[in-house]
Amino acid sequence: MNTAQQLNTQFGIAGQLSFREDASGLIVAEISNAQATASLCLQGAHLMTWKPGNQSVPVIWLSRDAKLAAGKSIRGGAPVCWPWFGAHASESGFPGHGFARTVPWQVVESGNEPGGATRLTLRLVASEKTRAQWPHDCTLNLTVVVGETLRMELATENTGVTDFVIGEALHTYFRIGDIGAVRVRGLAGCDYWDKVGGSALKTQAGAISFSGETDRVYINTAAECVIEDDQLKRRIHVAKSGSLSTVVWTPWVEKADKMGDMGQPDGWREMVCVESVNAIENVVKVAAGARHTLIVEYRAEVI
Ligand code: BG6
Repeated sequence: MNTAQQLNTQFGIAGQLSFREDASGLIVAEISNAQATASLCLQGAHLMTWKPGNQSVPVIWLSRDAKLAAGKSIRGGAPVCWPWFGAHASESGFPGHGFARTVPWQVVESGNEPGGATRLTLRLVASEKTRAQWPHDCTLNLTVVVGETLRMELATENTGVTDFVIGEALHTYFRIGDIGAVRVRGLAGCDYWDKVGGSALKTQAGAISFSGETDRVYINTAAECVIEDDQLKRRIHVAKSGSLSTVVWTPWVEKADKMGDMGQPDGWREMVCVESVNAIENVVKVAAGARHTLIVEYRAEVI
């Protein structure tokens, strides 16, 4: 792995992109340009923060208890779940949401977009351990474009000679005023698997509002979602392609207490996850030699 100093020499952009070593030993990319600020931990290619210039409160939620530690996922930000979502289909010992969020990634490219946004591309580093769980020839890249909007592209390329199937997610945590006061629009009429209290297929009526633990996998939907937040006076737009499932999740108080890293007592009230996913019936077959890309664009509109 490169040191922060080597990364600064090779990929740093003066006044916009630099790398630093955290106390944990993990390396963090810091991005700051005329449009936004953001930070991303190279382990997991884990975007931790993003604040566009039109907002005083960050759009992405990072738990105040978030810890950076080798091999551990960070609570909050935008974890990359891959090559499966949720529990592994057959191996109970394999990590939930796949291994991509807990392994090292390497920087492969950085640059400026024409409009002034900053681009950074990372690639998952395969190891004996990842191959033991995922024995396929594959390149996984995440490109993050930080500007007034935040764009994330997760590209899976099958470099082998046999087809494979993946589940995946950009499992983004959003900072909100209060979970009891926000609404998520865009999923009316969609079917979803309700994971609270068993697993039942239901149909969404109207906007989503929250009054208890919510853990839903909406299926067969490419719709843009909007988080309406009157307290923070903004609408967060989540627009996607290459994703047919959307997960809406809030742990509520009991589960948040048990999780131990949610910034209790009230951390859970200030977040909601709207995840751009391919899961359950929407897992993706990537043919030999083919590429599949999940793209999500986030935008905060002032109201
Ligand atoms: C969501 C799942 O995507 O992630 C939830 O639907 C899960 O069931 C949540 O609790 C957090 O997962 P983890 O592994 O980061 O604690």
